[in-house]
Amino acid sequence: MEKNKNAKSFIDLAKKRGFFWQSSEIYGGTSGMFDYGPLGLLLKIKLIEKWRNFFVKQEDNVYEIETSLIQPEKVFEASGHLKSFIDPVTQCKNCNSIFRADDLIQKKTKEFVEGKKPEELTKIIKENNIKCPKCKGELSKVKIFNLMLKTFLSPTGEEIAYLRPETAQGIFVDFKRILVATRTKLPFGVAQVGSSFRNEISPRQFIIRLRAFNQMEVEWFVDPKELNKHPRFKEVENIKIRILTRESQKENGKETTLTTKESVKKEIVPNQYLAYFLARETQFYKSVGLPFEEFRFRHMLPEETPHYSKGNFDLEINFDFGWKEVVGNAYRTDHDLKSHMKKSGVDLTVRLDDGTKIIPHVVEPSFGIERTIYGILFHCYKNGKKRGWEWFAFPPDIAPYSVGVFPLVNKDGLQEKAKEIFKLLKKHFDVFYDDSGSIGRRYARADEIGTPFDITIDYDTMENNTVTLRYRDTTKQERIKIKDLVKIIYQLTHS
Ligand code: GAP
Repeated sequence: MEKNKNAKSFIDLAKKRGFFWQSSEIYGGTSGMFDYGPLGLLLKIKLIEKWRNFFVKQEDNVYEIETSLIQPEKVFEASGHLKSFIDPVTQCKNCNSIFRADDLIQKKTKEFVEGKKPEELTKIIKENNIKCPKCKGELSKVKIFNLMLKTFLSPTGEEIAYLRPETAQGIFVDFKRILVATRTKLPFGVAQVGSSFRNEISPRQFIIRLRAFNQMEVEWFVDPKELNKHPRFKEVENIKIRILTRESQKENGKETTLTTKESVKKEIVPNQYLAYFLARETQFYKSVGLPFEEFRFRHMLPEETPHYSKGNFDLEINFDFGWKEVVGNAYRTDHDLKSHMKKSGVDLTVRLDDGTKIIPHVVEPSFGIERTIYGILFHCYKNGKKRGWEWFAFPPDIAPYSVGVFPLVNKDGLQEKAKEIFKLLKKHFDVFYDDSGSIGRRYARADEIGTPFDITIDYDTMENNTVTLRYRDTTKQERIKIKDLVKIIYQLTHS
């Protein structure tokens, strides 16, 4: 990572230029919620499209669905969220501030306490004399707090429901419908992109820990006997991945770089399906602008592995505040389908070709959109030391705008010609037009929002129908014909 790189600079720039800001700001803002501005939304749309291309379109048997944001209580009773999707909290008896008990303990003792019971946490707080970080007041007994946001569906308030804490449950409850409608066979995947909600106790780091956020998830349904027979494993078996093993977390904290094939052979990753995703995610995160050494897969320790999982590998990105999970990869086994089958009484088994019926196992990569965007902004941000202005080196296919169009001067028909070219390009790309200030200032403003290509219309354009094409990363310029513009920019943004 660049020395002294910190998030503050890019957050200031991203706010100033309209990527995102806090939600309901004029009323003081709501913590854990934010709004996308015009540039942030374009970046998000492009990221989702790239993800869909990678994890849906390029796969062989993936179906995409969109399910309800609100689901009845029964869904979460079955999934285990009602019982297990909890955080331990403690309240200051003096100022009433509420904190995550495990966070406070970890900060003070450096000990990892996830999975411990409330009584044990209360005891550790007492033994270590941990006080309220705000006013040094005494802390209450530790209680359990469910992170789901509750709502009521009827005027009488009898029908309890929850905002979904993950998109995955919609896929599991629709499993039978999908199976019948698509007439598909195992293995197959179901993908969903959309909002999830968690009543986080201490939202923080801007868009890193939110109460309302977006996920991109795929549930892969597999015959458990076939977990080591991924049909396309060969394509990725030599891809190098970086893993932080359970052992090394206890010893030196160093990552091991190995091929996907080795990771399965050495039984570091439990099966080919999970390893396949680690390889594809490595390719994906490199392609959105993250250097290989700035992300890794951490094998979660047994005590922090979610209740539904038999092995989790978190893709973590390196930030100025440390490593942070951005994608959760879980081997969910048959936990969800089995639980929904039991609760609903609906048969969720799949009949194999030999007539036997099985409950498929599930391997799930679950991507956080906002954390991915934060990672892209952080690692693509360039300070202004060399260039005189800050800028973002977004890969061209996810940059909010692909092209900026500028007339060199606002006279002699140059503006009209530039608008003509702007109109032409708008049919194919996200383009903006700028005719105010010096051309240098306009290049700077375009760089600031990460626009990879700038087109300038000058006096030669009027003579010979050529324009200058400026490349953001090198600042080099070349002259190209207007008739070739669309083709060239298409190639540059899709290479
Ligand atoms: N279906 C599995 C699941 O939801 P998770 O690890 O709890 O797994 C997946 O979440 C991803 O969703 C995380 O890696 C993270 O990127 C994102 N995410 C989870 N909670 C979040 C929050 N409070 N704010 C922003 N992103 C969050």
